[in-house]
Amino acid sequence: MAPTRWQNENTEAQSREYVERFARLESRGVDLHGEARMVDALLAPGSTVLDAGCGTARLGAELARRGHRVTAVDLDPVFVEAARAHTQITVHQADLTGLDLGERFDAVIAAGNVMVFMEPGTERTALERIAAHVKPGGVFVAGFATDRAYTVEQFDDHLDAVGLGVEHRFSTWDLRPWRQGADWAVTVARAPELLA
Ligand SMILES: C[S@@+](CC[C@H](N)C(=O)[O-])C[C@H]1O[C@@H](n2cnc3c(N)ncnc32)[C@H](O)[C@@H]1O
Repeated sequence: MAPTRWQNENTEAQSREYVERFARLESRGVDLHGEARMVDALLAPGSTVLDAGCGTARLGAELARRGHRVTAVDLDPVFVEAARAHTQITVHQADLTGLDLGERFDAVIAAGNVMVFMEPGTERTALERIAAHVKPGGVFVAGFATDRAYTVEQFDDHLDAVGLGVEHRFSTWDLRPWRQGADWAVTVARAPELLA
């Protein structure tokens, strides 16, 4: 498995510092669940969710706490180890660009800059694999910063190419309206329903 942009730009110690930083924030009672609240609002109770590029699985664990059945995937071994502390979710160490879990989910979520921490040039392939894991009529939700090399326009072209239609875009996870120049993009894309 080739390393991700995250691994190329961060040492193992920096991955560990990321894990510890989020643990400190959680222990101080900082709200870390804005993404989970937004995603939960999109889903029926007890939905199946793939937390793609899960990091510590902060999001996946909260969605499981809210009653969803969560699988999580990351390539970085430090994050996989941290995510496995959440025993209520299933965690795989895997590369999104070659993902084949043999099942589809009601929702696939790539929160916290996953799209811009992929190895440059692999984003479309990863989106193909993500689309292959979304049930007909299911959603793909991604949030990432707009000041990086991978742009919202490229993302939209890639979503279109893999058959995911953009349904909504916001500039924050608490649903502030999208505007050109916003520093963050939260996108809800949907897979086509099966034809009867
Ligand atoms: C900034 S972290 C965000 C983690 C988590 N989603 C969150 O919101 O806390 C970006 C994550 O994307 C993962 N990632 C990037 N490219 C990946 C790939 N091709 N396969 C699996 N994970 C990937 C990295 O390992 C890293 O954990």
